[in-house]
Amino acid sequence: MRGTTLLTMSDQHSHQSFETRAIHAGNTADPLTGAVVPPIYQVSTYKQDGVGGLRGGYEYSRSANPTRTALEENLAALEGGRRGLAFASGLAAEDCLLRALLAPGDHVVIPNDAYGGTFRLFAKVVERWGVDFSVANTSDIDAVRDAVNDRTKLIWVETPSNPLLGITDIEAVAGVARQAGVKLVVDNTFASPYLQQPLALGADVVVHSLTKYMGGHSDVVGGALVTADAALGEELAYHQNAMGAVAGPFDSWIVLRGIKTLAVRMDRHSENAAKVVEMLTQHPKVTQVLYPGLPEHPGHEIAAKQMRSFGGMISFRVQGGEEAAVEVCNRAQLFTLGESLGGVESLIEHPGRMTHASVAGSALEVPADLVRLSVGIENADDLLADLRQALG
Ligand SMILES: Cc1ncc(COP(=O)(O)O)c(C=O)c1O
Repeated sequence: MRGTTLLTMSDQHSHQSFETRAIHAGNTADPLTGAVVPPIYQVSTYKQDGVGGLRGGYEYSRSANPTRTALEENLAALEGGRRGLAFASGLAAEDCLLRALLAPGDHVVIPNDAYGGTFRLFAKVVERWGVDFSVANTSDIDAVRDAVNDRTKLIWVETPSNPLLGITDIEAVAGVARQAGVKLVVDNTFASPYLQQPLALGADVVVHSLTKYMGGHSDVVGGALVTADAALGEELAYHQNAMGAVAGPFDSWIVLRGIKTLAVRMDRHSENAAKVVEMLTQHPKVTQVLYPGLPEHPGHEIAAKQMRSFGGMISFRVQGGEEAAVEVCNRAQLFTLGESLGGVESLIEHPGRMTHASVAGSALEVPADLVRLSVGIENADDLLADLRQALG
């Protein structure tokens, strides 16, 4: 029942521009009161008019909840997909996807640079269930092709990647996936659908940590899957209900609210990041700046082709090694020292000891002198002043 509604909603908004869809898709006025914002249906169950007589198609909020449906419709419309599904966290979405699509004996290609928690899910959880993986540099199409074997079921890509800001050519990898008859999954968390549309480039599924740019205010944890294909969406919706790690009504509502300003926030994140990059590239204590907007970045041309702008995430390496990098993080004041990213407030962190501690000793280990910034939407001059003092 929900599937039918979602298809209609997606089609209804498909002719609209992104900013309009962000505000209107899923956000229909409440049929009972006319409230212009979907209410928070903080409810677990629904009165039936006789056994099986469901009024709005809802019977139990793990299976479906109207506030979550509003968000799921919005997500499908923003990614240009047929089905959106909202979860309790990004990792819950990933877990559902992997356990729905994989069985013992299957093989997966994963990137050599990815969020540490994604790697941990593959290496410590999914592998124990008999699914093995190969790590490949997904920026190198030949390396991706070589990593695929006759047991491969899916290729996983994160672009831009966390924390090294590597760029993968989504269209090219989609070609490899199609040829091999495997699915392509793209983690679109760093870009958001405003900057990048993986389904239009041939991906089968988009993954999001809604915790980041989609929510946008560091006040909610959530995740999403969006599929290009309605049947695959239905299969994942079955597993979403069967596994149960759904987004709650309030969390769905707060993400839906955040998304309304996604376009303007992403424009400002990108503008501010460009100014920060300019300063960092000239700073004597910075040995390397990793940002796809830089012409010397190896993925610059592909990023320019597949992204609207280059986003708000920057990593850089500092002279003096790990201790110097940790010191920069500790000295920052306006940049808040903390994990996560994508909020309106700027954050700074040391991936080696913080977000990516779980990849230490693996093929995904990150440089010890690396600092990662999530550039917020504050005044750029204030951000530059803080970074200058933090670098000393
Ligand atoms: C790129 C990326 N994907 C997935 C996740 C996992 O999302 P969550 O923390 O919402 O479970 C994160 C979290 O940092 C991330 O950065």
